[in-house]
Amino acid sequence: MNKSRVAAIDVGNDSIKAIFGELEYELNIPNIIARDTEDRPVIGIEELDSKNPLDGIHIKVHSPALKDNNAIYRVGNLATKTDNATELDPGSSKSEEDQTLIMLFATLALDAVKLDSFPKAKNVIDATYTLGTGLPLREVKEGKDAGYRSRLIGNVHQVEFLVTPKYQGLKVNLKFNEVKVYPEGFAAYINLVMDNNLKIINKDLIDKRILIQDIGGLSTDIAVIKNRNVDDDKAQGFNLGVSESLEAIREEIRKKHGVELDSRRDVVEIITRKNDRNHIMVKGSRTSVHDITDRILLDLAKKQYRLLRNVWQKNSQTEICYFVGGGSHVLKDYIKTLNNNLDGYNIEFFEDDKESIWMMANAYYKLIMDFVRKSEKPKEPVKTN
Ligand SMILES: Nc1ncnc2c1ncn2[C@@H]1O[C@H](COP(=O)(O)OP(=O)(O)OP(=O)(O)O)[C@@H](O)[C@H]1O
Ligand SMILES: [Mg+2]
Repeated sequence: MNKSRVAAIDVGNDSIKAIFGELEYELNIPNIIARDTEDRPVIGIEELDSKNPLDGIHIKVHSPALKDNNAIYRVGNLATKTDNATELDPGSSKSEEDQTLIMLFATLALDAVKLDSFPKAKNVIDATYTLGTGLPLREVKEGKDAGYRSRLIGNVHQVEFLVTPKYQGLKVNLKFNEVKVYPEGFAAYINLVMDNNLKIINKDLIDKRILIQDIGGLSTDIAVIKNRNVDDDKAQGFNLGVSESLEAIREEIRKKHGVELDSRRDVVEIITRKNDRNHIMVKGSRTSVHDITDRILLDLAKKQYRLLRNVWQKNSQTEICYFVGGGSHVLKDYIKTLNNNLDGYNIEFFEDDKESIWMMANAYYKLIMDFVRKSEKPKEPVKTN
């Protein structure tokens, strides 16, 4: 059997976060795809050699797991530049969307093409993975994780790189040795209390009743942890993320100052950077946009605070709430101020934005590594199941 490589992948509505192997490679790709045709025009003769493959992901995907098999897509940054791009709809089910699989396969293929360890014949690479990933608690509760897992594990999926810098013409056959699908809220808890060897690092926390409010791009999930487990019935998901507010800030800056920011990422940079926070350059003059960012972010922070209050009321014996996800990083100061002036809940944020954003991927990594270690241990007598 081929040696299998470990991958931990969080398919976020806003972006994919992936960790590979012995932590040696990481990928973060915007979750956005656009249908395309065989030949995308390449501007500039040298584009294909000189450009970053991640800015030109153009692939054809063959897989029986897809509703729409053999279709061609632009993925990530390249897809943002088209007008038919699709992002996941907040009401949809991650486990049932082709987009989730396209992103997952593209991410794995981008790892596989960088390695020498997988067998390669001509332009075809045979890649085998042991995957740890997750689904929203709601979908796990509905039992959708089983179907999702079996569609992944029961098929060979092929990613064919079309007009992609460096990788044009390569095909990657993806197979899964094992797929573990964890509920998102539970994973965040694991990451808080355990280290990479699943040793408890936070004894204080492990038996507490805690909430984890994950503010993402398009959605917010609040997990309720009790007796070292997620309380399935209490967990809640809301179609409220931070992307819409970032977009609103961008639009107001454009209207008021005539300045066109490239992306939501730029907005995040302006509102979170250490120096010159909430300022932009307008025709060469340093200009404050504090009025705009304050109003829009405070508004969202209030909505998020209402969600917290609501869930806390229903779980009155909660001891602490952790805020995770990129949205928590953006709203941190606003939510803290609201909390100081209002209910004074025991709430906690992460200093480091990376910790907040990579929470799920880190957790899947811990869980899947633990699974691999346990299954590598010789068992006596050998059992078959
Ligand atoms: N340091 C940062 N780098 C990149 N994005 C950030 C950062 N801080 C905040 N953000 C913003 O936070 C938002 C949410 O990011 P996050 O990765 O948590 O969402 P997601 O997990 O992909 O989405 P969801 O949880 O809705 O599925 C994004 O809109 C992103 O622009
Ligand atoms: Mg998320």
